[in-house]
Amino acid sequence: MEASKIQIGVVGLGLMGCSISTCLLMSGHPVVAIAPISVDMETAELRIRKHLNKAKEEGLLTETADFYLGNLIISEDYGHLKLCQLVIECTIENEEIKRSVYGKIEAEIADEALITSNTSAIPISELQNLTQKPERFFGLHWAEPSHTTRFLEIICGAKSDVKKGEYLYELSHGWGKEPTLVRKDIRGFIANRLMYSMYREAIYLVENGYATVEDVDRACRNNTGYWMTLVGVFGWMDLTGVPAYHNVMKDLNATLYNGTEVPKLIDDIVKSGGKGVSNGHGFYEYSPEEAKLWEETFADFSYEIRKLALKYPADVVKSKLKTK
Ligand SMILES: NC(=O)c1ccc[n+]([C@@H]2O[C@H](COP(=O)([O-])OP(=O)(O)OC[C@H]3O[C@@H](n4cnc5c(N)ncnc54)[C@H](O)[C@@H]3O)[C@@H](O)[C@H]2O)c1
Repeated sequence: MEASKIQIGVVGLGLMGCSISTCLLMSGHPVVAIAPISVDMETAELRIRKHLNKAKEEGLLTETADFYLGNLIISEDYGHLKLCQLVIECTIENEEIKRSVYGKIEAEIADEALITSNTSAIPISELQNLTQKPERFFGLHWAEPSHTTRFLEIICGAKSDVKKGEYLYELSHGWGKEPTLVRKDIRGFIANRLMYSMYREAIYLVENGYATVEDVDRACRNNTGYWMTLVGVFGWMDLTGVPAYHNVMKDLNATLYNGTEVPKLIDDIVKSGGKGVSNGHGFYEYSPEEAKLWEETFADFSYEIRKLALKYPADVVKSKLKTK
């Protein structure tokens, strides 16, 4: 069967379940979207339709939203997953809820079908032990909005069959991804480990009076933020000269913050109910109008950066050499 014709199940239709479903529909897959809570039934189709309309407006789609929605089943009945060869679990970050969802999925799907989780931080080796056939279980870690971002981590747990992980890696190229295969499970996987080391250092700098939140963000946006889409970490060191980094590491590494506690700055925000843009209180304060505009600006930016990123795929230089 043609890869894009494989039926894929998505269980959990919140923020990410809807954008993942959109991505798969845009790539030509028939999608079975399961609503584990009934409120999903009221919101999911509208959310997916909105994504498809915006993608059409941005020139990513040739057909109308209704064409893609024709390939989508939304239901509370797990029985619709029967023919799915891959199921992506996308429920809230709670092991007990995920365990109960895996039981319902495994009761329906074929023995050779794969199950994956979009968990942000629960180790795959832990989650796969909640299933009856851990060898067919993987992490499939997407970035929001999944239908425009190139990011995807495929994570093998200690008991996963790496060959099947390699199959997912190949399959995901058809979803417009530049995937990363994590062959050995580690908490936080790759991207979050990199990002959290940066969050921790950023908070340390602010808490200790070296710079303000605004100043740290400005430095990050105009340095790291500029080149990351092109080269990543190692490519950047190659591009700008490895010996300089070697030299700086000798003195700088010992001064980088390596505390293990949750920092007070973020603890205070969360304990006082702050969520960020979604409720107007975070590291910054937002009026309702500002918050709405940030959400719209983020959506617009994700399309703009996508256009730029597509001009610079990982093999950009290899392709240039071929056309010379
Ligand atoms: N939001 C992100 O940017 C992001 C990025 C990467 C990974 N993730 C991960 O994706 C998963 C889903 O996150 P999200 O942002 O879509 O969350 P969300 O809160 O938008 O949606 C959660 C969904 O979980 C399901 N759910 C809620 N309560 C449930 C219950 N009691 N029983 C069964 N199902 C229930 C529902 O389908 C709900 O829509 C989480 O594991 C999260 O860590 C999120």
